Amino acid sequence: MPIVKFVKEKKEIEVPDGANLRTEALKAGIFTNVGFVNGIGRSLNSSLLNCHGLGLCGTCRVLVTKGIENTNKLTLREWLKFKTVVPTPLPDPVPPLAYVGHEDTMRLACCTQVHGDIEIETGPEINLFGENFFS
Ligand code: FES
Repeated sequence: MPIVKFVKEKKEIEVPDGANLRTEALKAGIFTNVGFVNGIGRSLNSSLLNCHGLGLCGTCRVLVTKGIENTNKLTLREWLKFKTVVPTPLPDPVPPLAYVGHEDTMRLACCTQVHGDIEIETGPEINLFGENFFS
């Protein structure tokens, strides 16, 4: 059975093949849902302000720091969250969740199936304005 290691929580759990990452994390007492901006609304989002696994809110984003090949392919809902751009007053359109720099490893926990050992970072920092915002 695959092993999921949660880096920040320092916890490892064994899950059945094909298990849903968010569901298994919740069973282990790990909340993958964070605020839209870390630190703000995290506790509320953990329990109330999220779509409860429907792939709509985007607050369950996680980084798969090891073993991304042991997960399912990006789902349509993830693709829409991560890959589509929205028009903004900024010079360049930005993806809705601004996952810049983590294009290959950021997932929505509720859309991720585990097929092998993986390592997860919950609540990754996001960079809404790019690395050169103040330069
Ligand atoms: S819980 Fe809302 S997108 Fe995963």
